[in-house]
Amino acid sequence: MTPRIWLSPPHTSGKELDFIQDAFAKNWIAPIGENVTGFEQDICSFLGKNIYATSTNTGTAALHLALIILGVKRDDYVICQDLTFVATVNPAVYLGATPVLVDSERETWNISPELLETAIKDCLKKGKKPKAIVWVNLYGMPAKIDEIRQIAQSYEIPLLEDAAESLGSKYKGDYCGTFGDIAMISFNGNKIITTSNGGVLLSKNKEFTDKARFLASQARDDAPYYQHSTVGYNYALSNISAGIGRGQMMVLPQRVEQRRKNNQYYREHLADVEGISFQTEPSADFYSNYWLTSIIVDAEKTNGITREDLRLALNEVNIESRPLWKPMHLQPIFNDCPYYGDGTSDALFENGLCLPSGSMLTEKELSRVVEIIRQKLKNN
Ligand SMILES: Cc1ncc(COP(=O)(O)O)c(C=O)c1O
Repeated sequence: MTPRIWLSPPHTSGKELDFIQDAFAKNWIAPIGENVTGFEQDICSFLGKNIYATSTNTGTAALHLALIILGVKRDDYVICQDLTFVATVNPAVYLGATPVLVDSERETWNISPELLETAIKDCLKKGKKPKAIVWVNLYGMPAKIDEIRQIAQSYEIPLLEDAAESLGSKYKGDYCGTFGDIAMISFNGNKIITTSNGGVLLSKNKEFTDKARFLASQARDDAPYYQHSTVGYNYALSNISAGIGRGQMMVLPQRVEQRRKNNQYYREHLADVEGISFQTEPSADFYSNYWLTSIIVDAEKTNGITREDLRLALNEVNIESRPLWKPMHLQPIFNDCPYYGDGTSDALFENGLCLPSGSMLTEKELSRVVEIIRQKLKNN
């Protein structure tokens, strides 16, 4: 059988080992060291805009710290995008808060500004002003950030930008990860660049990133012995993982370019196929890294062929594809959470498929994926 085509495998630059070897040579096999500071600097200089960074051992840890820093406590409400990976929402639950789930709009597939405002008004009616709003730039696509910020500002609710999937994406010329009061990015193995497991908390407010660093390393007081007045966490990124990150940052622009090329390839080669549409930048204000190219399959126009039929056909020939994230309001763990929706995320989940999108894909592999999709649809 031909080798498996994966959805989004890691893609090394060849430079990672130099940084790891340097850490070994200097014996900084620790959660601090030159790679950690170097990696954070690399991220800040890439993002620009006076941003500060504290790296973490996962993106989820960064989200958890961000909510703590924004003051989320037990029984608070935290508004979260409904269509996302579960890690966007879990940290609210870690803190004993209630996630309030808000559906997406159809253009970017991210949180709907209209439903966001409806949810806020309803929370206020219940006497529960939300403590934070967490939005996502799904599969790399920036959300309607101006509208979201305007609403957050008018109700004075802080914003947490889950930019886990959108490193290198831009909105109105600025990079994703620079918009929220706090933002985070994930460097999980399937992301556009990786540290194998890792994340970063970002903010223009240095007090926030300083606090994150303090909390991520067990919240040790300034004393010559181990004294703790605050509960801390062991969330710091290791100097070895950060070394991988430094090697990865050297090729980030090429990785973005390649993922966008993949997206372009799929668009061009599936353009004439009835019943397939793409997650698409709504205007020139939106620039997606197209971390994952995602399509919608309209079974009414494909003679009944569904996204699941396509997924199975691809899997049969050893090609990995994946349904869109299952919305959070459909997850058993969030059954009891308030939900404001109009069916958008349900429909996206029902009909959406993420195609192989790795930056190592060859043209031959891309054409295999396209060929299987075309064949499946033609045979019907
Ligand atoms: C939207 C989103 N949020 C949060 C995370 C969590 O990041 P991590 O896996 O690094 O903990 C991920 C990725 O895994 C993600 O895709």
